[in-house]
Amino acid sequence: MTDDNFVKLLEELQRKIEYGEEQTYSKVVIREYRNPSNFGVLDDPDAVGKIKGPCGDTMKISLKIEKLKIKQAFFWTDGCGATIACGSILTKIIKGKTPQEANDISSSQFIEALEGLPIEHHHCIILAINALQKAIKNYNEKNFLVKK
Ligand code: FES
Repeated sequence: MTDDNFVKLLEELQRKIEYGEEQTYSKVVIREYRNPSNFGVLDDPDAVGKIKGPCGDTMKISLKIEKLKIKQAFFWTDGCGATIACGSILTKIIKGKTPQEANDISSSQFIEALEGLPIEHHHCIILAINALQKAIKNYNEKNFLVKK
C-alpha cells in the first residue's frame, strides 16, 4: 500500500468514527469530549474526591473554594469520551455555586445540559457526581462542617 492510499484509508476511517459518534451523541457531548474544559488536577486544592466506578474507570474532582463558593473545579478521568464530556460539563456548571448547591444538582440536570446522554452512559455522569459529592464531603470534613 502506498503512503497516499494509507492516508486515504485513515481519513475514511476517521470519517466513519465521526459519523458513528454523531449518530450516538449530542452535539454538546461531542464538543465537550473533543475539547474538554477543566481537565487535570488543581494544585493545592481545598477538596478532592476520587471514585472508581463499576466499569473500572476513575474520576477525580478537585475544587478550590473561596468565600463558600466553588472558585475552580477540575476533573481527571481515564474513562471514555462520555465520561470526559460529563467531567467537563459538571466542572463548568458547579463553578460559582456553593458546595451545597453543587451537591444538590441532579443527574438529569447534568444530562439536560449535555442535551442528552445515551442510557448506557448514564453511569458516567453518576461517576462524576459521586466524585464531586466525595470532594464536597472531604471539604466539609476538613472544615469541621460535618463529623468524619
Ligand atoms: Fe466507565 Fe464512562 S464507561 S465511566
